[in-house]
Amino acid sequence: MRTILVTGGAGFIGSNFVHYMLAHHNYKLVNLDALTYAGNLENLSGLEGNPNHVFIKGDICDEGLVSKLFAEYDFDTVVNFAAESHVDRSITHPEIFLNTNVRGTQVLLEAAKRHWSEEPDNKHCRDYCEGVRYLQVSTDEVYGALGKTGMFTETTPLSPNSPYSASKTSADLFVRAYHETFGLPVNITRCSNNYGPYQFPEKLIPLMINNCNCGKALPVYGDGMQIRDWLHVADHCSAIDTVLHKGKIGEIYNIGGNNEKANIEIVKLIIKTLGKSEDLISYVQDRPGHDRRYAIDNTKITTELGWKPIYTFEQGITETIQWYLNHRDWMEHITTGGYQNYYQEMYGRAKTSL
Ligand code: NAD
Ligand code: TYD
Repeated sequence: MRTILVTGGAGFIGSNFVHYMLAHHNYKLVNLDALTYAGNLENLSGLEGNPNHVFIKGDICDEGLVSKLFAEYDFDTVVNFAAESHVDRSITHPEIFLNTNVRGTQVLLEAAKRHWSEEPDNKHCRDYCEGVRYLQVSTDEVYGALGKTGMFTETTPLSPNSPYSASKTSADLFVRAYHETFGLPVNITRCSNNYGPYQFPEKLIPLMINNCNCGKALPVYGDGMQIRDWLHVADHCSAIDTVLHKGKIGEIYNIGGNNEKANIEIVKLIIKTLGKSEDLISYVQDRPGHDRRYAIDNTKITTELGWKPIYTFEQGITETIQWYLNHRDWMEHITTGGYQNYYQEMYGRAKTSL
């Protein structure tokens, strides 16, 4: 039985990953999450009493806590989702991104290196326990922006443009350095934009669904012609699961489903599905340094590891819109701040374990 440290497992992708892994494997998952504004224990509802899931409220930058958890649970795998993830917030508060995304990653790498090393006192030790693996969940944004043509491959030069992507790139370079210098068994996955259940409504798709539902203006940045390559979160989770089981140590895998859409197309699709008027669209000032286009070349993971996405964009977006319509209370708890009371209640009652 594997014991996996999942960090950031109360956020959007992390919580989907926790549900996915518990449904597909008999592994123990220890979910370490600081419950920032983006962490929501309601994303984990239904897991109360599941012996394979332990929730710990804590910060990945807390060396003492991370090292204590390694000693207590003897993890053989780390999957690091914990991060500040919103580009707009990184423009107003870059320092928080530097701390969590870079320093936090280095704390996890160091703890893994020490705990998994066969000779803990030998700083140059390159021998690790059998079967251990550190997986860094990264993003296609580390490659910067594309023009009208071309796609990101794993060898595209790193060229981040926002404080968010700069922090994710720095973290990737630390992961690489721990592999090259110390031989730590690592993988990095770089995925395109995700959509699906439990996404915090500051991101494009849930924000537009919620505003549209409430008859509020839909803020489209610039001309709305920026392109993102969308992947359903369940397909991202299955790709990470594939890399954990079949990925070659030290390798980077791009993850994407060949679904390039302009932002305005998505906004119009949401309006149409919800039967609202395009008059709700409000073109607003563009994001500074706004990347024009992302597109992932997924040849490596599809041909070498046999992964492929299940969702078409049409099916995924229809189900996702329906999910938000069916979970209005979830959305309302976030927009009113009530979800924070919920986690205080839950955390107070459950201490560290859900
Ligand atoms: P999210 O913002 O929804 O969730 C982040 C989670 O991390 C939250 O639960 C938060 O409480 C937790 N967290 C933040 N700081 C922490 C800290 N210091 N210690 C412990 N926990 C902390 O983000 P997401 O969209 O689920 O993204 C998860 C990961 O996937 C990130 O690393 C992100 O860079 C990457 N990623 C996201 C996308 C996307 O489209 N959302 C695409 C590719 C890669
Ligand atoms: P976002 O969901 O923030 O993801 P990212 O910036 O990491 O790609 O934004 C997706 C795209 O939608 C991006 O081009 C910015 C744009 N956008 C808007 O036009 N309006 C909005 O209100 C938001 C949140 C995003």
